[in-house]
Amino acid sequence: MARETWATRMGFILAAVGSAVGLGNIWRFPFITGQEGGGAFLLLYLLFVVLIGFPAILVEFVIGRYTELNPVGAIRELGSGAWNYLGWLFVVTGFVTLSYYSVVAGWFLRYTLIGVTDGYALAGPEEATALYGSVTTGLDSLLFHAVFMALVIGIIAAGVRRGIEVGVKVMVPAIIVVLVGLAAYAFTLDAAGAAYAYYLTPDFGYLAANWTSILPAAAGQAFFTLSLGMGVMITYASYLGEDRNLATDAGIIAALDTLIAVIVGFVVFPFLFAAGIEPGGPGPSAIFVSLTSAFTGIPGGRIIGIVFFAMVGIAALSSAISILEVLVSYLIDEFDVERVPASVAIGVAVFLLGVPVTIDLIFLGLYDNLAGGVLLVLGSLLLALFVGWVIPDVARNELEKGIGSLGGLGTAWIWIVRIPIVIVVLVSLYLGVVGYVDFLTGGFAEWLAAR
Ligand code: PHE
Repeated sequence: MARETWATRMGFILAAVGSAVGLGNIWRFPFITGQEGGGAFLLLYLLFVVLIGFPAILVEFVIGRYTELNPVGAIRELGSGAWNYLGWLFVVTGFVTLSYYSVVAGWFLRYTLIGVTDGYALAGPEEATALYGSVTTGLDSLLFHAVFMALVIGIIAAGVRRGIEVGVKVMVPAIIVVLVGLAAYAFTLDAAGAAYAYYLTPDFGYLAANWTSILPAAAGQAFFTLSLGMGVMITYASYLGEDRNLATDAGIIAALDTLIAVIVGFVVFPFLFAAGIEPGGPGPSAIFVSLTSAFTGIPGGRIIGIVFFAMVGIAALSSAISILEVLVSYLIDEFDVERVPASVAIGVAVFLLGVPVTIDLIFLGLYDNLAGGVLLVLGSLLLALFVGWVIPDVARNELEKGIGSLGGLGTAWIWIVRIPIVIVVLVSLYLGVVGYVDFLTGGFAEWLAAR
């Protein structure tokens, strides 16, 4: 049977944008930015998107389009020996990432429902934080995790691609419109000036003193938000029938994804500052606490809130789908399993792995620091090494299809992938591992000891 390709010419871009835009932009970006000192982090993150993220998208695109295989099969076809294990890394990364991603997405569903039943009128930040606490732990969290995973499984089992394309086409512009509106409202807050200063002015002294945590955080966030390092973009490019200009596509994806994250910062920080909350304090609750105060203050806030939380839920769905698709396409291609049982089996396993996160938020740190700080970075490093050193000629030819030689751009790309990217990502990975070991022996060990 011929492998499916994208229904429309735009389909591929839409699906890739749908994968990139999600909780990484709206939930993860603002809280990591807050934890890592604001402007200093933003600067590094933007640099990483342009200098590392964009070439790394192309790395995955050429592998996928050239082989027309799932990531595990693709690497096996192109490489040999130990490279075959790279596919396994993707599978592990996909499992871990989707398991907590679904839990957090479930919170957005829950917040949507809260808007419908009660509205967001809250007395102040304490109440907003208390609400977050009740949403994120216990049976509610488990229930909405289950609902979200059921949706993801359903879509992947049905193999509906057209649905994704249409959904993204409506959702991404809508998210931008609402975010810009919220940012405009945030602009009128007295605290906006201080918030912008924090968010936009890089404090180089702070950067110099804290680069060992800012650097890996920025690299991890760049890979996470662009859906890199676990084969998603390989998988999506494997369904590309035609030889189109991959660089344009990668540019569009990176630009849209970054735009959305940056606007989220213009919403979150003014509201946190207005509520007198330290930007680094709230951690994963940052977006929820700031948005519920926003929706409390704005006329029509309840409706806007419901629509916005629901849209984020849908954006999360189009990202989650891309992760499960990697795992399922692997099982289908490699073991000849049917799509429906493959989707259900893997989906249920992912759900179970996520259950601890609904019980105690320490597991959110355990999973997210592992995926974002270590696994995605490692996957991206190995992919860069693979393309830069193992298959450089194949990769360059593949990139130049649909672009032309562009005066040596392909060669420049290979060299960027070969050396600077490898070095920066290697350093980030090292620091990420050190940070994770610190977390395991520090915060997590304390938590365990307290049981
Ligand atoms: N990029 C997605 C987001 O920002 C998350 C994701 C990570 C999806 C890795 C696929 C792979 O929400």
